[in-house]
Amino acid sequence: VTEGLALTPPMGFNNWNSTHCRAEFNEDMVKGIADLFVAKGLKDAGYRYVNLDDCWALPHRDANGELVPDPVRFPGGIRAVADYVHAKGLKLGIYTSAGTKTCNSAGFPGALGHEYSDARQFADWGVDYLKYDNCNNQGVDARQRYRTMRDALRATGRPIVYSICEWGENKPWEWASDVGQLWRTTGDISDSWSSMLSILKQNLPLAPHAGPGHWNDPDMLEVGNGGMTETEYRSHFSLWSVMAAPLLIGTDLRKASQATFDILANEEVIAVDQDPLGRQGAVVSAADGRWVVAKEMRDGSRAVALFNESGTAQRIATTASAVGLPDADAYTLRDLWQHRGYNTAGTIAATVPAHATVLLRVSADPRWADHPPAVELGLDGD
Ligand code: GLA
Repeated sequence: VTEGLALTPPMGFNNWNSTHCRAEFNEDMVKGIADLFVAKGLKDAGYRYVNLDDCWALPHRDANGELVPDPVRFPGGIRAVADYVHAKGLKLGIYTSAGTKTCNSAGFPGALGHEYSDARQFADWGVDYLKYDNCNNQGVDARQRYRTMRDALRATGRPIVYSICEWGENKPWEWASDVGQLWRTTGDISDSWSSMLSILKQNLPLAPHAGPGHWNDPDMLEVGNGGMTETEYRSHFSLWSVMAAPLLIGTDLRKASQATFDILANEEVIAVDQDPLGRQGAVVSAADGRWVVAKEMRDGSRAVALFNESGTAQRIATTASAVGLPDADAYTLRDLWQHRGYNTAGTIAATVPAHATVLLRVSADPRWADHPPAVELGLDGD
């Protein structure tokens, strides 16, 4: 039942980055997000999973050892939110820990030792995705803990995407490709430029380990949460897409600005993330904060991120051959934020503002006459 799951990186929402355990994480929120996925075109853009994070349960199991949804947050239980989300053609995710308790200090029940019965309960509720955390693991071997839950999920017979959240502590990229469909590679992201950058740098070198059904997970998006500029959020979204990362929206869409929706719903950028070849982009060059990251696409083109880490505008340049394209007389460049095409004889370059990313799709293409040369509009041609 896990065959064919997450053949492209999962896309959806998770409440954690916007609410942590605050009271606003509740049934109204989950339903409101599902409504907005449909109303704002996010479902059409590919977002599917509406995921609940920590604090959805009561601190104690019932007399039968079953998990009990918090009746204040989820008065209709989890089944009711699953039904609501499913009726909109979306999917529901849930969270627990591969330990005796979850990560929150209130001490919600974890699934260690309860894997088969908890997985059964999730499946009975109609859950489609499980994020399985690492807190309070009692020192039990990670491979063993994560494989037991994999087997428990399989035993339910329900296809459930399995997200391994052990923060890269045990190098899951080396052993988890037949355990879960994605694994966190780092500690938790926070809504700051320095956090985003640090996670980016940890996740980039892991590119060879990603592929259809087994993705590196550099954690959920912070786009829209207010701690970064719009330019920085566009870089965050561009870089996560070029890394074929899961795209889990982490902002409360009920309060989101149009600028936030415009970033999250950019279908040309999403197409980079969701490319069926399933390659994670790799670093071509990185000198003085001038990053070039290139991702091979199924149609033979390359997505190329020109990312300026530094605090001043810089010219970032590479070539068609350096990003892996075949020799050709001319190449087509498509700017995925400007939504415009250009031509070049082989140089791929732009003057990139501080903290910005120019995200391009470059192909060896004979349509030289269709577009202006890239030297116009700030992209340097040759
Ligand atoms: C850990 C995880 C986070 C989040 C919290 C919830 O820190 O890494 O993503 O799920 O637990 O308590």
